[in-house]
Amino acid sequence: MNSKPSMDTFVSLCKRRGFVFQGSEIYGGIGGFWDYGPLGVELKNNIKRNWWRSMVQERDDVVGIDAAIIMNPRVWVASGHVDTFADPMSDCLQCKRRWRTDDVQADAEGRRRCPECGGELTEARMFNLMFKTYVGPVEDEASVAYLRPETAQAMFVNFENVLTTTRRKLPFGIAQVGRSFRNEITPGNFIFRDREFEQMEMEYFVMPGTDEEWHDRWIETRLNWWLSLGIRKENLRLREHAKEELSHYSKRTVDIEYDFPFAGFAEIEGIANRTDFDLRQHAKHSGRTLEYFDESTGQHVVPYVIEPAMGVDRCLLTVLIDAYAEEEVRGEKRVVLRFKPELAPIKVAVLPLSRNEQLTPTARRVWDLLRPHFMTQYDDAQSIGRRYRRQDEIGTPFCVTIDFQTLEDDAVTIRDRDEMTQVRVPIANLVSALREKLPGC
Ligand code: GAP
Repeated sequence: MNSKPSMDTFVSLCKRRGFVFQGSEIYGGIGGFWDYGPLGVELKNNIKRNWWRSMVQERDDVVGIDAAIIMNPRVWVASGHVDTFADPMSDCLQCKRRWRTDDVQADAEGRRRCPECGGELTEARMFNLMFKTYVGPVEDEASVAYLRPETAQAMFVNFENVLTTTRRKLPFGIAQVGRSFRNEITPGNFIFRDREFEQMEMEYFVMPGTDEEWHDRWIETRLNWWLSLGIRKENLRLREHAKEELSHYSKRTVDIEYDFPFAGFAEIEGIANRTDFDLRQHAKHSGRTLEYFDESTGQHVVPYVIEPAMGVDRCLLTVLIDAYAEEEVRGEKRVVLRFKPELAPIKVAVLPLSRNEQLTPTARRVWDLLRPHFMTQYDDAQSIGRRYRRQDEIGTPFCVTIDFQTLEDDAVTIRDRDEMTQVRVPIANLVSALREKLPGC
């Protein structure tokens, strides 16, 4: 029995088990900001590590950077964000709530009414989504700066630095994982649309004329990456952007979408052909030459760029929802997160059969043995059955049980989350047995 959870069930599981907390919760929270708990941070790190491994480490044509969040504000003039990174916004004349105009359905006469109270909405006004701040002690126009709304611009601004320091030849890519900020008018759907979030983006510089072919290749590569996380194929699809929805820099964009229980198919990653727009804009605004010298033709070219861009938080939500299953085991409901072991926050739980003082020293010895190798958890509270359920609910692939027989044969039981089968293994072989079951962890 596989089922998608209702949003309420899911959000409460995330909080109860320490995946995601509301930001600043004891003060009533703050819309669009979330905190990751002890399990959430592990899952997030595992996702980021997996992306970095496939996009940087395992490739011979991509390098990474880690740039400052606040950049010279001229970057955002050149990129077009100061002028165009805006959503239409309308206010309710009655309850004063503010809406993203696109999110409110118009009636037959084209009028929009407040989804909250039915009141009339004002005409749409454009609202820039960048967070403003001031750099230095004086708060005036000259000291205005922005929190970056995407990580991508740092790759364009550092194009020359990376090219000269790494002596790359086209095609090559620059990747980054980092925070982005957008003052979304209506953040929501849990961690789907946030005001502070993390992105994993890669700008892949190619010879003009090869861009369309590289775009297709990247679409396929990225879809395969989502499948490699264990996301079910039937829940993923590709969607081509219509001409009128393309961003100002894009020649073609294809989104990877996931079928969310609360929203239907929605974007989890965008793969855009950004052409030479950004490099040309930065060359114009900075006065620097941002070109590549092609030794084979003796010509200077401005590369085209293919950009796979995704959000870590949205990926974490996708991984959690897709892994969620409710099953019936011997007449009892079991909730299990079937994470691919590589992504599971806890790889191995150490569970003494009971709190009996004869078992504790051996159980602690097993825990000490495993901690340097795997993320582990020790749990000796309540019955062993309940403890298995608790580990299933957070997706722990293996539980190691220490029982009274262990005191005689120095062997333990490894219990498998998915099959619920058990095998007995000498403690001396435990690490290698688990290594075999947890490749890449
Ligand atoms: N550099 C291109 C760019 O930023 P985008 O489609 O605006 O493109 C890329 O964002 C990805 O970042 C999205 O597919 C989504 O996963 C994530 N993302 C964007 N806005 C977000 C938000 N407000 N909250 C969470 N994730 C967001």
